[in-house]
Amino acid sequence: MSLIPMVEKEGLLSNSLSQPTRKSTGPLKTSIYVLLALICTGTALYSVQPHFFCGGHVGTAGGDICPQPGVLVPSKNGALWKGLVEETYNSQEFHDRAVNWLGGAVRVPTESFDRMLPVGEDPRWDVFGPFHDYLLTAFPLIHTTLELTKVNTYGLVYVWKGSDETQKPLLLAAHQDVVPVNPETADVWTHPPYSGYFDGERIWGRGSWDDKSGLIGIMTTIETLLENGFKPTRSVVLAFGFDEEASGLHGASAIGKYLLETYGENAFAMLVDEGGDYMVEYGKVYATVGTAEKGYLDTRVEVASPGGHSSVPPPHTSIGILSSLLVHIEANPFVAHLGRGTPMYLKSQCLAAHAPGLPRSLRKSLTDAARSDKALRKAEEALFADPRFKALVGTTQAIDLVQGGVKTNALPESAWAVVDHRVATDSSIEDVQKHETELLKHLASAFNLSYTAFGKQISEPGVPAYGTLTIDEAWGAALAPAPVTPSSGDAAAPFNLLAGTVKATYEAHRNISDGNGDGVVVSPGIMSGNTDTRHYWRLTEHIFRYSHHYTGNQTWVAGGAHTVNEAIYVDSWLEQIRFITTLILNADESTSL
Ligand SMILES: *[C@@H]1O[C@H](CO)[C@@H](O)[C@H](O)[C@H]1NC(C)=O
Ligand SMILES: *[C@@H]1O[C@H](CO)[C@@H](O)[C@H](O)[C@H]1NC(C)=O
Ligand SMILES: *[C@@H]1O[C@H](CO)[C@@H](O)[C@H](O)[C@H]1NC(C)=O
Ligand SMILES: [Zn+2]
Repeated sequence: MSLIPMVEKEGLLSNSLSQPTRKSTGPLKTSIYVLLALICTGTALYSVQPHFFCGGHVGTAGGDICPQPGVLVPSKNGALWKGLVEETYNSQEFHDRAVNWLGGAVRVPTESFDRMLPVGEDPRWDVFGPFHDYLLTAFPLIHTTLELTKVNTYGLVYVWKGSDETQKPLLLAAHQDVVPVNPETADVWTHPPYSGYFDGERIWGRGSWDDKSGLIGIMTTIETLLENGFKPTRSVVLAFGFDEEASGLHGASAIGKYLLETYGENAFAMLVDEGGDYMVEYGKVYATVGTAEKGYLDTRVEVASPGGHSSVPPPHTSIGILSSLLVHIEANPFVAHLGRGTPMYLKSQCLAAHAPGLPRSLRKSLTDAARSDKALRKAEEALFADPRFKALVGTTQAIDLVQGGVKTNALPESAWAVVDHRVATDSSIEDVQKHETELLKHLASAFNLSYTAFGKQISEPGVPAYGTLTIDEAWGAALAPAPVTPSSGDAAAPFNLLAGTVKATYEAHRNISDGNGDGVVVSPGIMSGNTDTRHYWRLTEHIFRYSHHYTGNQTWVAGGAHTVNEAIYVDSWLEQIRFITTLILNADESTSL
């Protein structure tokens, strides 16, 4: 590690120069920074923050902390790329085609529901047939050039064969389904939810954002590349599930198995699915790429005790006992800690290294946190003031369902509740089970209950008890935290390619940065929900959840995903198309993947 490393402004760095290189500054410049750091922080040698005037101005890069690769633009296909992102996509003609492509997709109401029966038994899947017909008509070149396999009838896998089969393919994912529109809210929509209505700026309707912008964005890009005669060197594989909004149990789950059987483990160079966008945080534009997902566990806590007539009640009924247990659970939440190396830690380091609006004291604790536990706790305390940040870091719990009793004059023989947990990336399903098992031990004994947790007898077996306490997985849908995608070091070539692509896209179109890649900071982070990627872990270690809609200016967030008035600005979506185009071309000629 060099002292006070600096990233030199790279300018446009093309693929032919391979991966962005970092140059060290000259000795004079370095010593000035050492001096400044000494004066400002008192802890010179490890300080990586070249603050001018001690925290007012943020330097161009943070060196080892949140390193930023340079802008990456296609070289071999540089002319094609420039023509597309700077001309074609800016044209009125393309704009109109894009509006029709996405609007048409929104007009097919591909709703998915919880607990659907298998394909073939549940008629609610049938609507995906017309959606496939739509894709076939809208994207003729794709359907004559790419190889299409339908997995479990409605899962779509397109293969665009590259000329070099020794290169691992790029895998792009999106989902065909949308969250159902609550019929009671249908008339609250400014424009009907499946109208695909274009108001001159925005395309309206369920799925316009989540995730038909992703799916049609990929299709639009590839159709356009085909129209322009592009032939890939590296294969591109598309995986479009059809029940992402219902955990992907029928769609991505089958596609994941199919791809694993066909290609094998770690067969893909990288996978990009829907996820984070870029937006302003503390005065800087951040593109946060989901390099991890939290795990998931629903536990069912059930108390059973003797029934009988309510006129001769015991001091505590099943409901009363359950209530005590639930109060105890809420009084003892999981302790959240910002662990070094976790995606949210890395995100906070990126804030420290590049966000001018970060409070000075927080920047200092974050900078010191790499080697001081005290500073780390201090930073954590400040960051946890934002409950959303804290929720992404730690394991959360929420009691979401409760039931017990059938009649006022009958003692309830049982009562149960379901607790929803989102498991921290540095924890595990086992940790959560252990925590909850231990937590309820003394109350189980105080209420004289025979106690079983996750299939194991906890209380002494055979001892007569007043009732039972059973905790278990609620529906067997537990999901471990996702493996964390590497974002630094030797394994980070795919991350760097993605980051360079984000920067290239950002620079290409908008005159909102200084043209050297510093306009946007690309940071690892956590996707707050789960995507179809949960079924794709074994296909590659490099999974990214990132969408690149233009949301840098908050007025551009039309919003409404999962609720009424979902809409997307065409300009915001065109930005996503620029991104996918740049990604495919960069991946195609990369020698580092
Ligand atoms: C627990 O309940 C059983 C059954 O009602 C009873 O026989 C036993 O004495 C109770 N034990 C305690 C410690 O209260
Ligand atoms: C971008 O903006 C700068 C000043 O903000 C201006 O000097 C430059 O000409 C602009 N470039 C383009 C291509 O519009
Ligand atoms: C955001 O975008 C809108 C629409 O293009 C524009 O009118 C507004 O000035 C922008 N605001 C900022 C702060 O850039
Ligand atoms: Zn989605």
